[in-house]
Amino acid sequence: MPQPAMQIDPSLFPHLSRLVSQQLAVYPEHAKLFDRRFGGESPEALAHLEWLARKVAKLTAGAEQTFLQDYRWLCDRQVEEELYFRRTGRYRLDTFSQAYEQVYSDAAYMTRYMNGLLMTQLWWSNHTSVMAFFRNGYLPSLGADYSHLEIGPGHGLFLALAAEDQRCRTATGWDISAASIERTRHALESLDPGRMPDLVLQDLFASPTAQFDSLVFSEVLEHMENPRAALDAIRPLLSPGGRLFLNMPINSPAPDHLFNVETPSELRSFLEDAGFSVLEEHLAPATNQKLDQSVRKKLTISCAYILERS
Ligand SMILES: C[S@@+](CC[C@H](N)C(=O)[O-])C[C@H]1O[C@@H](n2cnc3c(N)ncnc32)[C@H](O)[C@@H]1O
Repeated sequence: MPQPAMQIDPSLFPHLSRLVSQQLAVYPEHAKLFDRRFGGESPEALAHLEWLARKVAKLTAGAEQTFLQDYRWLCDRQVEEELYFRRTGRYRLDTFSQAYEQVYSDAAYMTRYMNGLLMTQLWWSNHTSVMAFFRNGYLPSLGADYSHLEIGPGHGLFLALAAEDQRCRTATGWDISAASIERTRHALESLDPGRMPDLVLQDLFASPTAQFDSLVFSEVLEHMENPRAALDAIRPLLSPGGRLFLNMPINSPAPDHLFNVETPSELRSFLEDAGFSVLEEHLAPATNQKLDQSVRKKLTISCAYILERS
């Protein structure tokens, strides 16, 4: 099996090392990118990756080839969008109805998209880094016995982590795409966190009256035609003292992304203007990139925040 030049020690990181080899067999063009990505990782980061790889291996068991191929498919879609973005300075789609027609309502497309996105949690360092912030920063910051809602759980990994947290009292997922709900359910059944969250086909703009101590809105704001209206819809869903984990990649074209800002500080101001206070900020540049250069050159940066209502 192909391996990156920098070997990941299979005796220390068995799941990661196997998944890397399997992915390179499907996508040999990624060898250099993986060399740099994993060659530079600290032992702590590799330990987090191994923890994540164990979950991904469980979730993809019996269908590994599908997930690995879907990752390659997703990268091809990203390249098309990236070319458009760099040529024009804007994302290709403008309206939610375009995104709904071309992406969310297309079950086959959406399934591949969510499968590929699951693999990016391992292969794209900004995604891995945000997942570590969620696991080690956000979840432990929540009070005991919290009620939890994720809007747009997609591949389901974030929701599964909350559902397996002993301190989480209730877990709920809302998504506008039936295929995403199916992927989330599959993730939860495979990872078996000890309970099945309530999964609802639900547009956030038609939210029922409810409040949650913890709300996750990860990689959804950039899908909004009217992002301020989305934040206005979310704010009342937070119980007094409740926390919001919000994650948005900027300068990050994708088949269904509509909203962009060019710098992390612009996004922070946008969130503050919408009535949120930033308790913590975590900025993660794309794989093999540095944060200062990414800000200067307007490259992809995942911007993750722990917020509360101001
Ligand atoms: C890119 S995925 C995010 C998956 C995961 N949360 C993550 O951070 O990797 C975006 C998800 O948001 C869902 N979504 C988009 N618009 C929505 C809306 N108006 N209401 C609820 N879900 C929505 C999509 O169907 C999709 O499953």
